[in-house]
Amino acid sequence: MIEVDGKETLGELSSEMLAELVEKKPDAVLGLATGSTPEDTYKKLIKKINTRKLDTSRLTTINLDEYEGLSPDHPMSYHAFMKEHLYQPLGLSEAQTHLPKGDAPDLYEEAERYERLIQECGGIDLQLLGIGENGHIGFNEPGTPFTTRTHVVDLTANTREVNARFFDRLEDVPHRAITMGITSIMEARKVVLLANGDRKKDAMTRLIAGAINEEAPASILKKHPDFTIIADKAALAGIPADVRANWG
Ligand code: F6R
Repeated sequence: MIEVDGKETLGELSSEMLAELVEKKPDAVLGLATGSTPEDTYKKLIKKINTRKLDTSRLTTINLDEYEGLSPDHPMSYHAFMKEHLYQPLGLSEAQTHLPKGDAPDLYEEAERYERLIQECGGIDLQLLGIGENGHIGFNEPGTPFTTRTHVVDLTANTREVNARFFDRLEDVPHRAITMGITSIMEARKVVLLANGDRKKDAMTRLIAGAINEEAPASILKKHPDFTIIADKAALAGIPADVRANWG
């Protein structure tokens, strides 16, 4: 676990991990997340890639999730977020970048296609994660079986309310999404979870100090052989000192 002072260092360390991977393995498969947490990571990664003149032509990116019903050009879609924050600035092509299609005619078939795609790409080298206030990873809400692969989910009222800040009105937030499953995430060769701010305190306390339990989806990550948390003091403030001391 790496404790940082704030968002700036969080973005710096996580972007450095990604940049080093791109440098070492130009055909790496990056598992990426959307949301406010990784925005700085992407900003800094773009700078590092440009300054170090790293080759991105053979990279593949695979994102965690997408809302049901939003086409790739819908401004609130995760497609649009990734295009703006990473794909366009780096000049990544459509063939290199993948998200589930939220406007696919059959969401269940789309989930199966997406899971096959992850396998066909040879698996994910580094999966970047944020964490929901309710402990979700991807859109795997509390109670999701640990055995899931990419699947269709009903978003909880809490997730819709929290994410309403990106939409004009709460009613505009879709009720369902496609997300990589817990097993899909656990199969990534390396997992890096980012958390900052007070509103992540409860979720991080449950992840670190609580039992491994499907009600706390992120808790399974403690079984991953290469799992790193990068979090700021506010997000870690609820963790008892003895638990902190015993964490690797
Ligand atoms: C995003 C995702 C979510 C977010 C989580 C935290 O692709 O899968 O699990 O990582 O909801 O979101 P922010 O970073 O906006 O607090």
